[in-house]
Amino acid sequence: MTATDQTGGGKVALITGANAGIGLTLAERLLTIHSDLHLCLACRNRHRAETARDALLLSRPKAQISIVILDTSNVQSVLSAVMDIKKLFSRIDYLYLNAGKMCVKHINFYNLFNSILKKNTLFLFNTGHGLLVHSDEQTSEGLMSTFATNVFGHFVMVKELEDILGGSQPSQIIWTSSVAGVRSAFDPRDIQAKNGMDPYGSTKCVIETTSMALNETQNKKNIYSHTTCPGLVLTNMTNGILASWIWWFILPFMYMFRLLLDHLNIDTYRGSESLVWLSQQEPTSLKTNIRYQSSTDVWGRTTVQPVQVNFSLEESLKVYEEMEMLYKGFKEKYKS
Ligand SMILES: NC(=O)c1ccc[n+]([C@@H]2O[C@H](COP(=O)([O-])OP(=O)(O)OC[C@H]3O[C@@H](n4cnc5c(N)ncnc54)[C@H](OP(=O)(O)O)[C@@H]3O)[C@@H](O)[C@H]2O)c1
Repeated sequence: MTATDQTGGGKVALITGANAGIGLTLAERLLTIHSDLHLCLACRNRHRAETARDALLLSRPKAQISIVILDTSNVQSVLSAVMDIKKLFSRIDYLYLNAGKMCVKHINFYNLFNSILKKNTLFLFNTGHGLLVHSDEQTSEGLMSTFATNVFGHFVMVKELEDILGGSQPSQIIWTSSVAGVRSAFDPRDIQAKNGMDPYGSTKCVIETTSMALNETQNKKNIYSHTTCPGLVLTNMTNGILASWIWWFILPFMYMFRLLLDHLNIDTYRGSESLVWLSQQEPTSLKTNIRYQSSTDVWGRTTVQPVQVNFSLEESLKVYEEMEMLYKGFKEKYKS
């Protein structure tokens, strides 16, 4: 059976990190709004992926769902997953680059106290930048782990899937970025944040710049790249910052704080709003220097808000160049 036979002519959406959190809710919502969709869950753990697929099939027994095993932190795994994807599909309409990790050691109470004196506590709570002390490590391939997981593995995927994206129909690349992607987290001379204090925020800046540059090079091929921010959502990721019982304890305060901060979406349904919304838009109508953010007001109404990204095209293209060089190095290494 050919790849086209398997999709039955319907659209194809691939989601990385689809077995939990925002990715899993996104999967569920895409199946609801796009009839005939063939969904591919790209996850690193087969058991967790199968559990997610079974859960999705419970409410939609006829849904077409495939699984591909992919560890975004490992280039060899990505290259092998791409071969599996190409065996299954002749094109991808929605490529959701959502898998991510954040390794937090502890909260920086010194910075928190100082921010009260400097009156910028809201910035700390808004972005996590300066509030969280991160840890990072090198992968067996010599990359910084947060960079490899959140952005570089995804970049390799995009490069390797180029021939089944775009063409006569547009393909949308949709990255899960974050409000944590603040300029001060990013050093363009150190895109892996080897020496950075905020490797997580830095990866989200690399996502923003890479996405902008991708549009420059790929729009002519009918490939469009956009970034989203799900806002603060309680998932396994946030449980790595504070124990889940603490989050439940402060939940009423978070609802009240929606008066000041519009990205306290809290649940995965609200958080996935911008990711779902993008799949319903004409890609040419979207801007490339905008991050589309899920936002919830104090009444619980969720909308998608455009947030201007503060990176120039020139610096985005430089980051892209560096990403390409790194990618070519791995291609050379694994060419056999
Ligand atoms: N939660 C928030 O407040 C928030 C805010 C802004 C942005 N985001 C972004 O939203 C995205 C989804 O996060 P989430 O909150 O839904 O967290 P989550 O529940 O922890 O989900 C993360 C997903 O990524 C997968 N993943 C992690 N490392 C991977 C790897 N090396 N290879 C393949 N898959 C990997 C996880 O798989 P396993 O289950 O196998 O670990 C899981 O499916 C991330 O990009 C995150 O940065 C989250």
